[in-house]
Amino acid sequence: MPARWYTQPLSRRVGAWIGLPPAAFRECVMSRINRRQFVQTGAAVAVAAAAPKSVFGQAPTVMTPKSVKPLVVASANGNRFKNGGTQTAVEKAFAMITSGADVLDAVIAGVNIVELDPLDTSVGFGGLPNADGVVQLDSCCMHGPKKRAGGVAEIEGVKTPSLVGKAVADLTDHHLIVGQGAQEFARNLGFEVVPDLNTDTSRKAWLEWKRRTDPLHYLTPADRALEVKKISLAVMREFGFDPAHYYGTINCDGLSPKGEICGVTTTSGLAWKIPGRTGDSPILGAGLYLDNEVGAAGSTGRGEANLYNLCSYLIVENMRRGMHPKDAGLDALKRIQSNTIEKRLLNDRGLPNFSINFYILNAKGEHAGVGMYAATYAVCTENGAQTLPVEPLLQGRADQ
Ligand code: GLY
Repeated sequence: MPARWYTQPLSRRVGAWIGLPPAAFRECVMSRINRRQFVQTGAAVAVAAAAPKSVFGQAPTVMTPKSVKPLVVASANGNRFKNGGTQTAVEKAFAMITSGADVLDAVIAGVNIVELDPLDTSVGFGGLPNADGVVQLDSCCMHGPKKRAGGVAEIEGVKTPSLVGKAVADLTDHHLIVGQGAQEFARNLGFEVVPDLNTDTSRKAWLEWKRRTDPLHYLTPADRALEVKKISLAVMREFGFDPAHYYGTINCDGLSPKGEICGVTTTSGLAWKIPGRTGDSPILGAGLYLDNEVGAAGSTGRGEANLYNLCSYLIVENMRRGMHPKDAGLDALKRIQSNTIEKRLLNDRGLPNFSINFYILNAKGEHAGVGMYAATYAVCTENGAQTLPVEPLLQGRADQ
């Protein structure tokens, strides 16, 4: 009796769906993904390209008559980390877009730089682990013209979850694959799966965090949450990590001269989270949302606050009704503020005690970064890459 289909390797199942023998399917994928080259260069290997065009029928690329100035927006780490190379994420994405690359391939190639850079402790390799010391990553992406999206959550051992999310969009009928299933999916496609995505520093920081927080198990849950946050931020400062990366993430959105809009968000999530905790980053409408005719929005910061309000979706819908990206984003932040009523989430002034930012562009090429409090964001245009201040909703600091 033949083995049940779901016990068979993914290459066999996907191969069967598309009418290729498993070996031929694997060959097709692996010929595009040379594992060693993938890891060494961090190149944006387009896993999608590995899919025969006939898999689900090529989604049509919308031929828009418009011509706009190309643009890339991202969280501030998109114009900071280079992983030993010469370009930041927004520079890489912009260069690829203006060379005619697919916009999603371009923004993913940009964030791959940050995912692979161990110095960014909020994304990919070297991202801070969960409370058990295991790095679990979330990501999703959207392709405006193709109206396709894909994501992964809590994937372990793969340095570039953004590319696995893209493979979910390109090779399956699903949007989101999580945990062990996501890792198996990636392994079957030829992604390298490493035993541990910690660096020496992230492991040491986790051990210190664990040492200091263990006695807190005896406090009430509310007191414990407050104490854990205080200790977490203190450990981050002591280890030289950016405290803004407590919920750190990178979002990067691009607009091509033809008006094609794509975006990606990728993260290691909240530092030292409960294992399995998933934030806003892989969730469409929260960590990322876009409509090719309207614009794109993505987030960094406290994922739970975003999830309760689905702000990326709200921002895009605000822009659809004619709002400028800045006003659309500030409106979403006001929604978050008004829905933040629990004392543990408020500072001494009665205002939200967390940071959350949105990075926004519209189809006309206007852009904005907005934040609950002052912060920065990255932009790349024909004038080059810049780090600009976001428009804050509230004055002062989150913790005061
Ligand atoms: N925004 C990232 C997270 O909350 O996981």
